[in-house]
Amino acid sequence: MKIITLSKAKKLSDREYKLLQGCITIERRLFPKHESLAATLEIEARKQSQDFVIMFDDEEKVVGYMIVSRSGHICKIAVASDRQRQGFGRQLISWAKERHPALSLHVDPDRPAMKFYFTEQFQQLELLRDYYIAGRDAYLMKWHR
Ligand SMILES: CC(C)(COP(=O)(O)OP(=O)(O)OC[C@H]1O[C@@H](n2cnc3c(N)ncnc32)[C@H](O)[C@@H]1OP(=O)(O)O)[C@@H](O)C(=O)NCCC(=O)NCCS
Repeated sequence: MKIITLSKAKKLSDREYKLLQGCITIERRLFPKHESLAATLEIEARKQSQDFVIMFDDEEKVVGYMIVSRSGHICKIAVASDRQRQGFGRQLISWAKERHPALSLHVDPDRPAMKFYFTEQFQQLELLRDYYIAGRDAYLMKWHR
């Protein structure tokens, strides 16, 4: 599996653009509207304040992606549904752990991802009521070396 971070140049290369489209497809499939960044992933990719990391296979098919800010906040992590539970999420988190002394993120308590973060030694901190939309809360989770 290969990992790249998208360049922040004004124009993405054709290859980067194609990979980004793969991320958008996964984003649409995995996340409900109130959590989805599908409409804005291209804008996210250009932000200087964060890294847009894409993992893909030999056929250049996107397996997963992650957006992590300079301060170590994981704004998004996702692995395609047919590639989950094969260690790719862990590899993405490892990429972030190697580059940041501390990481944080928000997660909907109803998501199975909670278990993934516990496995990755994140600690559950406060519950933020109505974080996503009314009625959908989030936990702040933190990890540090
Ligand atoms: C959460 C997510 C990124 C994890 O990626 P992944 O590649 O499936 O995770 P890994 O295979 O690296 O899992 C590592 C370990 O975490 C735990 N884990 C991961 N997913 C889990 C699940 N659904 N239920 C319970 N434990 C889980 C397991 O201990 C797993 O090890 P094991 O498979 O040997 O038991 C991925 O499932 C995903 O994209 N989910 C949908 C989108 C999402 O919820 N994103 C996070 C929003 S906050």
